[in-house]
Amino acid sequence: MTNPELFKHAMRHVPTGVTVVTSLKDGEPRGITVNSFASVSLDPPSLLICVNREARSYLFISTSRIFCVNVLAGNQRSLAEHFSGKVRELQFADVGYAIDATGAPVLDGSIAHFDCEVAQEYSVGSHSILIGNVLSCKSRPGSPLGYFNGGFHDFGIHVD
Ligand SMILES: Cc1cc2nc3c(=O)[nH]c(=O)nc-3n(C[C@H](O)[C@H](O)[C@H](O)COP(=O)(O)O)c2cc1C
Repeated sequence: MTNPELFKHAMRHVPTGVTVVTSLKDGEPRGITVNSFASVSLDPPSLLICVNREARSYLFISTSRIFCVNVLAGNQRSLAEHFSGKVRELQFADVGYAIDATGAPVLDGSIAHFDCEVAQEYSVGSHSILIGNVLSCKSRPGSPLGYFNGGFHDFGIHVD
């Protein structure tokens, strides 16, 4: 096994998009900034996220079995910071959102969202790989927020 610090350093060289994964439990919404997001399969349409089992959001997702992946736009860096912070309550007090198939928040201004129900879960070390079947998804024109070398970046690219 390699040294975790070497692994962390090498991962800083990997550019990713940035998402906020939302969920809903007993009527309370919750969100977490996540960049471990990938498409898994087309048939059925499915994707994966990796969530630390010590995160408050993990309890919401594992209990409700639903989550929505919101892909952030380049101008939504403050949302990425908000949802990676330690806000314990009223996390959505100043955040605009709608709902789609599952009831989990669809953030205003995100460039795409994927509304999912949990199909499978694999526990790996501190995290769980959560496979979601995509019940509904939509996309909008825009530029993505990027994460690279430990910081947020506008990659300067656009999708219609
Ligand atoms: C760019 C970025 C990407 C992140 N990606 C993940 C991730 O994929 N999985 C995860 O569990 N935490 C990830 N985090 C950390 C969580 O957002 C952070 O620990 C959050 O405070 C957890 O909140 P909670 O305990 O209230 O759910 C990421 C943070 C940042 C800034």
